[in-house]
Amino acid sequence: MQLIDGKATAQVIKLEIAAKVKSIISEGGKVPHLAAVLVGTDGGSETYISSKIKSCEEVGFKSTLIRFSENVTEKELLDCIENLNNNDDIDGFIVQLPLPKHISEEKITLSISPSKDVDGFHPVNIGKMALGMPCFLPATPQGIMELLKRYKIDTNGKNAVVIGRSNIVGRPLSILLSLNNNEGNSTVTVCHSRTKNLKEICLRADIIVTALGKPGFLKADMVKEGVVVIDVGTTRVEAPETKSGWRLKGDVDFENVAPKCSFITPVPGGVGPMTIVSLLQNTLKAGRF
Ligand code: GUN
Repeated sequence: MQLIDGKATAQVIKLEIAAKVKSIISEGGKVPHLAAVLVGTDGGSETYISSKIKSCEEVGFKSTLIRFSENVTEKELLDCIENLNNNDDIDGFIVQLPLPKHISEEKITLSISPSKDVDGFHPVNIGKMALGMPCFLPATPQGIMELLKRYKIDTNGKNAVVIGRSNIVGRPLSILLSLNNNEGNSTVTVCHSRTKNLKEICLRADIIVTALGKPGFLKADMVKEGVVVIDVGTTRVEAPETKSGWRLKGDVDFENVAPKCSFITPVPGGVGPMTIVSLLQNTLKAGRF
């Protein structure tokens, strides 16, 4: 069994990005600039945003954080996005989700210029992704494809099972894995809450990706020997022994599943660190359009 070390891989990619930034600057180019819009004070969003900003600093990007209170109107947010769309110094930007209930996430996503949509959430980017055209890929699926590539995990002709059909992880990942390209070419089954015979489907899988947010859901009797398991779950569970009182737990019963795997991602330190790196990669790409 080999552990897929997302933390170390993310660190290597950050060094690669930092080197590219240096060479862009030495050639007189513009410093990549990411902006992030944060509404309210949701604890999870605050944590994600501060890691994103910190990662920008690590690789030499410029970053701008725009904060709004929970009471911001949709119009104010749309005006801010229009300014960011038209600001030539900003290469790409994100609006951290979730947004308060009185704001339509769909309207906000649609208002972001696809050429600055470094989250890869705009339908134009999702459509291009489905057609295998150059585009911004959503962070988590891109991070997973990068891990598979860097660990030389062969996906060609394999049975891949994706558990979860969210717009930002399961659905796009299922498309990427089935595309007719080097990292794809798998036979993909998308499973979800209505799937019957999930265990039988998983037992046939060469690659299983869990993205459902149920700690310890994937058990050892659901996987075959030699399977590759990618765990996207990051649920906070109580852990009185830690300073914070909680720790992150994945969707996989790691202790019992890991011995059967050829490769497996841990939680934390697997897919998580790769998502921020994907955002950095997209921002670098955005500056070159
Ligand atoms: N909320 C949870 N994940 C994400 C993400 O990748 N991007 C944005 N904008 N919001 C999120």
